[in-house]
Amino acid sequence: APRIFSGIQPSGGLTLGNYLGALKRFVEKQDEGIETIYCMVDMHAITVWQDPAKLRQQTREGAAAFLAAGIDPARSILFNQSQVSAHAELGWIFNCIARMGWMSRMTQFKDKAGKNSENVSLGLFAYPSLMAADILAYKATHVPVGEDQKQHLELTRDIAIKFNNDYGVNFFPVVEPVIEGAATRVMSLRDGTKKMSKSDPSDQSRINLTDDADTIAKKIRKAKTDPEPLPDSLDGLKDRPEARNLVNIYAALAGHTAEQVIRDYAGAQFGTFKPALADLAVAKLEPITLEMNRLMQDPAEIDRILGQGAARAEAIARPIVDQVYDIVGMIRAP
Ligand code: TYM
Repeated sequence: APRIFSGIQPSGGLTLGNYLGALKRFVEKQDEGIETIYCMVDMHAITVWQDPAKLRQQTREGAAAFLAAGIDPARSILFNQSQVSAHAELGWIFNCIARMGWMSRMTQFKDKAGKNSENVSLGLFAYPSLMAADILAYKATHVPVGEDQKQHLELTRDIAIKFNNDYGVNFFPVVEPVIEGAATRVMSLRDGTKKMSKSDPSDQSRINLTDDADTIAKKIRKAKTDPEPLPDSLDGLKDRPEARNLVNIYAALAGHTAEQVIRDYAGAQFGTFKPALADLAVAKLEPITLEMNRLMQDPAEIDRILGQGAARAEAIARPIVDQVYDIVGMIRAP
């Protein structure tokens, strides 16, 4: 049977990109009745220094976003990574499987390290190997993510294959990335060639799940566009990254395809399309924001849910990691 695992870093507030590329689809998978395991990856977050109080706050806020978006802790496992030591344990084993050359080719590392790679943490370099451990500690088969995580999932496959080969076992599954829907790569509202990101210095570039209705509407009204009306076919969006981004966002929020949106708005000016998009965004996001705010009134309850999720996660991962120790040749007390 398929088993889904995915994670989100609590390294900042969640954006519309995280919602459309990940969270919304996590809920769909849960509602399809698939076994789903979702994780706030706090150990990944500290590959770049995090203020401890903020990390705690953002982990709870992320969990609140999962719940507000429709994750049901009775049907999905929801927890934070550091509570289940299997992740760190398997991460170490995978550090000994992954090759320096593989890691050096990770574009996200190169982007984050920039020119000064001498001065980033060793954890940032090893990041994708911990990510492989997240997934394979559960022998998950499918991983829903946005487009930007594709290369990391290819590495996860390489690690699983090399582990199986090195030890002559058929132990780890080769995972399938699940990158689907109209918004697998939501772009910045200020620059259609850049990904919408929680770390962009401009708050105008993104919609945060904590933004109120006015702020959302204002950001969409001010989003960068070109002067042309919307075309009558998807082809007409080819060299118009900002227009294409807004159409994709509309489609994902409405649960339509981009083709349908273009059919409905062919020839429309942005003066018409942007207010429609703002209304749609507010209608879809405001209930989530309000519910997040309500949940955040009771942080102890969020911690309790994360703790229960962690216990269920531990029960799945522990025997798998124990088998890995055995395969590798490590003595375990009987
Ligand atoms: P993170 O925290 O950067 O993002 C969480 C999820 O949101 C997606 N996403 C986007 N999708 C569409 N458009 C965007 N602009 C956008 N920005 C982010 C990401 O693709 C991701 O699915 N390495 C992961 C976290 C992770 C993980 C894992 C994921 C750790 N272990 C195991 C899956 C399985 C990350 O940094 O995601």
